[in-house]
Amino acid sequence: MIQLTGTIARFDPTTDEKTHVEPYTVSVNEGARILNVLQAVHLQDPTLAFRSSCRAGQCGSCAVRVNGEPALACMTEATDGMRIEPLDLPVIKDLMVELVPGINKIPRIHPCDCYDIPDHAQIAKLKPLRDCIECLSCVSVCPAMKVTDFIGPTSMRAQMRIALDPRETETRIRDAIAQGLFTCTSCQRCRVVCPKEIEIPGKAIEKLREIANRDGLTLPRHQAVAELVKRTGRSVETTDKTFLDQVPEVIEPLGPVRGEVGFFVGCMFNGRLPERALDLLEVMKRVGIRVIIPKDQICCGSPLIRTGQTGFIDKIKERNIRVFTSRGITTVMTMCAGCGSTLKHDYQTPFTVKDVTEILTRMEIPKPARLEEKFTYHDPCHLLNGQGISNQPRELLRRVAGSFVEMPAQCCGSGGGVRSGMPEEAAALGEMRRNAIEATGADAVITICPFCEYHIQEHTDKPVKNLMTILLEGYRKKEGQ
Ligand code: SF4
Ligand code: SF4
Ligand code: FES
Repeated sequence: MIQLTGTIARFDPTTDEKTHVEPYTVSVNEGARILNVLQAVHLQDPTLAFRSSCRAGQCGSCAVRVNGEPALACMTEATDGMRIEPLDLPVIKDLMVELVPGINKIPRIHPCDCYDIPDHAQIAKLKPLRDCIECLSCVSVCPAMKVTDFIGPTSMRAQMRIALDPRETETRIRDAIAQGLFTCTSCQRCRVVCPKEIEIPGKAIEKLREIANRDGLTLPRHQAVAELVKRTGRSVETTDKTFLDQVPEVIEPLGPVRGEVGFFVGCMFNGRLPERALDLLEVMKRVGIRVIIPKDQICCGSPLIRTGQTGFIDKIKERNIRVFTSRGITTVMTMCAGCGSTLKHDYQTPFTVKDVTEILTRMEIPKPARLEEKFTYHDPCHLLNGQGISNQPRELLRRVAGSFVEMPAQCCGSGGGVRSGMPEEAAALGEMRRNAIEATGADAVITICPFCEYHIQEHTDKPVKNLMTILLEGYRKKEGQ
């Protein structure tokens, strides 16, 4: 037996005005699940309310938040110091939340009066979408649902599952659009928290958006972006000299060469925020990495994939792969979170793709001087959820920050075509970031995604800076510049 301590959020609507936290100490077997801990606490205090049924990860009833992240209590190993809370949904009592309204919203099939059953190929397509256990973990974290009437991730999953089912009698793409298909920010939180590893953004939402595109129902602003990419190879209009206009194809380091990468710039850093990419090159010069920048690279295609406009995506991929392989490049560095996630997951590249923060934290880099300000960090969704990168930017930031304060991760609202297609939703999520930034008391916000930087800057009075910019500031301070 081992002894575990932690806290549980308690709320009884008959006596409490708000939730409070109670400590617990229990003795459980080695390898115990969170559900075993809850049962042990229940023996001490029978008023503790929580749900469970199958105890095998199949019914979805036991989902709670553990240290802030949704988890199935029956499947997740208990550890010491756990903070156990209900999912971020209306609470009935203690760890029990309202599930019925959310489950009732999930669309069900309208089957034909026939004996057709899906064949093997059709079943294979349905499979990634049919394992849902209706735990509503995804619903509890979805940022779009916090600020719009979006029906939610698992309902979109169900819509796509129905769209693929030959027994369904109706075409429901217009329903899906009315239910908020275009409000999803592609933040990927639903995918990360799903205990059944259902890839809702890629396998349901983007596919439904493809159907909408085939039916001529893509939002006009998204269509305009696709036209721009088709015409110019870029997803943003550029006003000034682009990054690629300003740099030679090879940038040599100041000292000995310790490595070599190709640089995939991305439309935003190329056309809208070229100074940030120039700052990155200055950092690379100081850490000893040769950077090759093929001038014939184009948009990665992310704005098209996320909005379901995939008609010419294969040509874009072929071109971008060729520009790097033709130069013998084996590692491609990205700085834009969205480009990095797209190259890693939507391409099959013969080269390795690494975010700049992965590259800089895998090698010994010179120490920058410390800046005086207090910084906080905004996690770009396509870096945190899309690439699983959380520690690396923090590690770099801690080396240069006078002090660092954490801010809870939350989508800023700029992704998935929402900033262009659903500006009111993007603004509402941006305002939520404003409040979170204020609460940290930081002097400045650091991020690394150009879309986040651009969007958050509109929703805070604090400076929003790129991580590479402040690393360079640290080096320049050390150099006495
Ligand atoms: S990707 Fe994000 S916004 Fe879209 S459904 Fe999932 S959690 Fe919601
Ligand atoms: S999609 Fe995943 S997270 Fe969402 S309700 Fe179903 S099982 Fe739970
Ligand atoms: S008790 Fe059924 S999933 Fe946990």
